[in-house]
Amino acid sequence: MNQVYLNGEFLAADQAKVSVFDRGFLLGDGVYEVIPVYAGHCFQLDGHLQRLQASLNGVRMGNPHSDKEWKSLIAELIELNGGGEQSLYLQVTRGVAPRDHVFPEGVTPSAFAMSNPLQAVSEKYKKEGVAAITLPDIRWQNCNIKAITLLPNSLLKQQAQDAGAAEALLIRDGYLTEGAASNAYVVLDGIIYTAPKDEKVLPGITREVVIALAKKADIPLLEEAVSEAQLKQADEVWISSSTKEVLAITQLDGEKVGMGVPGPVWQQIDALYQDYKEDIASWQ
Ligand SMILES: Cc1ncc(COP(=O)(O)O)c(C=O)c1O
Repeated sequence: MNQVYLNGEFLAADQAKVSVFDRGFLLGDGVYEVIPVYAGHCFQLDGHLQRLQASLNGVRMGNPHSDKEWKSLIAELIELNGGGEQSLYLQVTRGVAPRDHVFPEGVTPSAFAMSNPLQAVSEKYKKEGVAAITLPDIRWQNCNIKAITLLPNSLLKQQAQDAGAAEALLIRDGYLTEGAASNAYVVLDGIIYTAPKDEKVLPGITREVVIALAKKADIPLLEEAVSEAQLKQADEVWISSSTKEVLAITQLDGEKVGMGVPGPVWQQIDALYQDYKEDIASWQ
């Protein structure tokens, strides 16, 4: 049985129980992280723990663990689940209290971590790219916080799936923000554009890696939002996330993007990304 971590204990997933009064359950009052594990090592763990702290700060919630404690319990959880490739999920909620919108006082936040199988990115998707549709960004004003309240994202992703697409690319005030569960990139005349880090997008950890790799390889990249009109003219469109890595969008709203196959700039970035992923010593 898959082992999970809950409030100081490691136990079999089916033995882990939370109270019905947990504010995560009643109010969606919590934040989370998803971290890929390669060969038993967490990819970009410091970045994920920093973002977890930023999300907690954003919702005025205490962190139940120091970074040292998180690192130690994460290492134990990875080991208990057999090492290798995993997708780790961390969640902190405001804890157990009588239902009330106002924050409870003196309540310890609930800490939960689980490991899921990390699905390798499909070779077909890498070779052919995937389809996306554009949809209005119906989410809230604090998309930089990785909150567990994912109902808008879930509705958007379902709409994409119903349309036979892998992702929804979100438009707010005429500009591309990101995907329902990914950051987005557009290549126009050899320049990569991705929306700047503000409250309209999640500061993706994969996005940081892509930016650093592009910089190192002298591929021009601007942290600037592109308009919906520019998106429709793009030579290449990509998405990125911890579990999907960097994927080319080759069909958008039923039309081909560029030549309808993953483009040359994506090929370059993907090759750099794969090399970086392999070189565990460089990201430890
Ligand atoms: C809305 C949103 N944007 C961006 C990302 C990508 O973030 P990361 O690269 O840290 O996985 C995710 C990941 O799930 C997401 O849900």
